[in-house]
Amino acid sequence: MPLGAGMTVGEAAGGAVGRVPRHVACVMDGNGRWAARRSLPRTSGHRAAETTVIDVIEAARTAGVEWLSLYAFSTENWRRPSTEVDFLMRLVRRVVRKHAPLLHARGIRCRFLGVADPRIPPALARDFTDLMTLTGENRGMTLTVAFDHGGRSDIVAAARSLIRSGVPADAVDERSFAAHLPFPDTPDVDLVIRTSGEQRISNFMLWQVAYAEWMFPPVLWPDFRAPHFLQCLHTYQQRDRRFGGVPTDANGERPA
Ligand code: IPE
Ligand code: IPE
Ligand code: MG
Repeated sequence: MPLGAGMTVGEAAGGAVGRVPRHVACVMDGNGRWAARRSLPRTSGHRAAETTVIDVIEAARTAGVEWLSLYAFSTENWRRPSTEVDFLMRLVRRVVRKHAPLLHARGIRCRFLGVADPRIPPALARDFTDLMTLTGENRGMTLTVAFDHGGRSDIVAAARSLIRSGVPADAVDERSFAAHLPFPDTPDVDLVIRTSGEQRISNFMLWQVAYAEWMFPPVLWPDFRAPHFLQCLHTYQQRDRRFGGVPTDANGERPA
């Protein structure tokens, strides 16, 4: 049984062997280095990332992944030069508008996680809302794009919402807390893939990655393709997820 937002870590059964992860989350890292290696401006790396995004969405969908989350812009990324930030805002708008019909045709439900900062251009925020509305009834894979996202900020938002609800402190448990997170129906992440070899969490979906498996392929995001993604799924299927329990035996069974 995969972890879900309404389920505590202790309630989850272990195991990954042979299973497609239900929720895969990608930290799309390495665009700047991809460009630098070609003596190109960093923005070229971001532009080249579009092909990977579409490839990975399609690979995940056809592999049977139910939830795919992509980290596109962090609350910390506002620290970048304004020229790069402006470029990213324009690029994301273009990508969203261009691929909206395809995403909808594929039955993908799209969501944008974060998007709270007033510096986000209103036209981009509107495009996000339009795509969420267009695809809201779709029952295929759910694609969550984390944009202006911070894991800590989500946890603080949940704490505020919980306090406002007037729930007594003793009545708060993991399940009721998680119900106040943004998009509380999102199941816990099973597998995080961070490209470019960096081995950091960078404030990504902190609550939901509590018991995720991690992979750090060295390939830079603009070079990452469906076969790399499928290799990660394959590696995941070899892992024995224990959730604090004991290892499986040679038959893949857990001792009673
Ligand atoms: C990830 O690539 C894209 C965003 C954070 C928007 P980077 O831009 O972080 O690329 P590197 O890490 O500098 O190579
Ligand atoms: C994390 O990558 C954010 C995204 C991929 C959107 P960064 O490149 O911004 O993270 P750090 O600075 O290496 O931690
Ligand atoms: Mg980076």
